[in-house]
Amino acid sequence: MKAIVVESENLSVQDVPDPSPAAGEVVIDVVAAGVNRADILQRAGNYPPPPGASETLGLEVSGRISALGDQVSGWAVGDEVCALLAGGGYAEKVAVPAEQVMQVPRGVDLVSAAALPEVACTVSSNVFDTAHLSTGELLLIHGGSSGIGTHATQLAHAMGARVAVTARTQAKLDRCREYGAEILIDYTRDDFAQILKDNGGADVILDIIGAKYLSSNIKALSTDGRLVIIGMQGGTKAELPIGLLLAKRLSVMGTTLRARPVHGPGGKAEVVAATMARTWPLIEAGKVEPVVDRTFPLADAAAAHDHLNSGDAIGKVLLTVE
Ligand SMILES: NC(=O)c1ccc[n+]([C@@H]2O[C@H](COP(=O)([O-])OP(=O)(O)OC[C@H]3O[C@@H](n4cnc5c(N)ncnc54)[C@H](OP(=O)(O)O)[C@@H]3O)[C@@H](O)[C@H]2O)c1
Repeated sequence: MKAIVVESENLSVQDVPDPSPAAGEVVIDVVAAGVNRADILQRAGNYPPPPGASETLGLEVSGRISALGDQVSGWAVGDEVCALLAGGGYAEKVAVPAEQVMQVPRGVDLVSAAALPEVACTVSSNVFDTAHLSTGELLLIHGGSSGIGTHATQLAHAMGARVAVTARTQAKLDRCREYGAEILIDYTRDDFAQILKDNGGADVILDIIGAKYLSSNIKALSTDGRLVIIGMQGGTKAELPIGLLLAKRLSVMGTTLRARPVHGPGGKAEVVAATMARTWPLIEAGKVEPVVDRTFPLADAAAAHDHLNSGDAIGKVLLTVE
């Protein structure tokens, strides 16, 4: 099969051996693959795949099942699916544990389905199962126009929460409003912590910045607020204002999806099942939609990375396999 191979940070299409399904795995003939920031980090040598995972880039795909390993039940050859991967998505075929495979929600086309696994599993697990956002609460989402941000906004809005977002331009904030955000903050101009305080404080913050925002995030939280950090774009080391943490009874949490085991508490099987139960009915009801900014052919993966790096994308960037 063809796959994207990384050599000294250059990406090229090469012939590599087809994957065969181990026990408990299925093989998917890939139709589309999501592009994630993690892929760009891995390409630069800064985010190695977890032990045992494919060296090929790519954390999510959509496509059709073409082979079943032993001990797989519930799936058949020809099923149209999307899947969460530990790696291997930038290819014509990928093997994946059956528990990480999801039906394509009714009403979603097969290419757009590749925009769902990473954002849906990340947002559902962090915002709801980890930070326990509930109806009527206020969620602050940093990077509201990102793939994660556009999905988190729609899901939280559909679940009856209020949403505040940060973004860099008015055009991005306008799109966030369309997805259900009501407090729109241009972080290049405005002090998000002050705006949140003026609105009673955030009950939950979904943060992708890390160190640079830690202190302001703590200020922006209301009493009993929960900060869940899923990205480190603004660095990894910062001082924690412990006085405020105690006074406001705050929780600070961090998670990553890729490194989770397949099975066991908090494993990918559990995350995928909970995500499908929570989010798929809302997608099928038209309350949450995949947000695809642009698609590129698999061979143009480098151009897709450049586009994600440009900061111009709103929602997800995808690769398509002809
Ligand atoms: N822990 C996990 O399991 C997990 C899983 C998936 C993704 N993630 C993380 O989630 C983040 C989003 O990923 P993605 O693939 O959806 O999109 P992405 O393209 O990585 O999005 C980056 C976002 O960061 C925003 N941003 C940059 N500087 C900012 C600042 N100072 N304040 C607020 N926003 C800022 C950008 O918006 P502007 O253009 O408006 O600046 C852009 O929307 C990434 O950091 C990724 O690593 C984590």
